[in-house]
Amino acid sequence: MPDNFEPKIVGFFCNWCTSVAADMAGTSRMEYPANVRPIRVMCSGSVDPSYVIRALLSGADGVIIGGCHPGDCHYISGNFKARRRIAILRKIFETLGLEQERIYLEWISASEGRKFVQKITEFTEKLRKMGVSELSQNWES
Ligand code: FES
Repeated sequence: MPDNFEPKIVGFFCNWCTSVAADMAGTSRMEYPANVRPIRVMCSGSVDPSYVIRALLSGADGVIIGGCHPGDCHYISGNFKARRRIAILRKIFETLGLEQERIYLEWISASEGRKFVQKITEFTEKLRKMGVSELSQNWES
């Protein structure tokens, strides 16, 4: 693994919360690693597991899904659906011997710019230590 390895992260961020937190972090000039390619979705519940798999097969070293806190979803139960889906997806990865730690779900509200920075920083650090995803390497070969 190269010393200067920088993980590529795909972020699926809910329009109503985590995307706003990301904007707030940016406008407040908070610093965080520039490793995330954000994709705005209307709700974390609209993130199909196939999107996560596709991102990982296409070269992402990690995927983060950011949604509204339980009870705050604008579509009532989308975030609960996301939580179940991601838990199942992680279990499948674990069963197959794949690195389920590369898939990360977090609740980050619109007012939590600082939490957004903290979670992105932590996830980036973790992926730096894990190194390049073998899943994307296999796809390349
Ligand atoms: Fe944000 Fe559903 S609207 S997670």
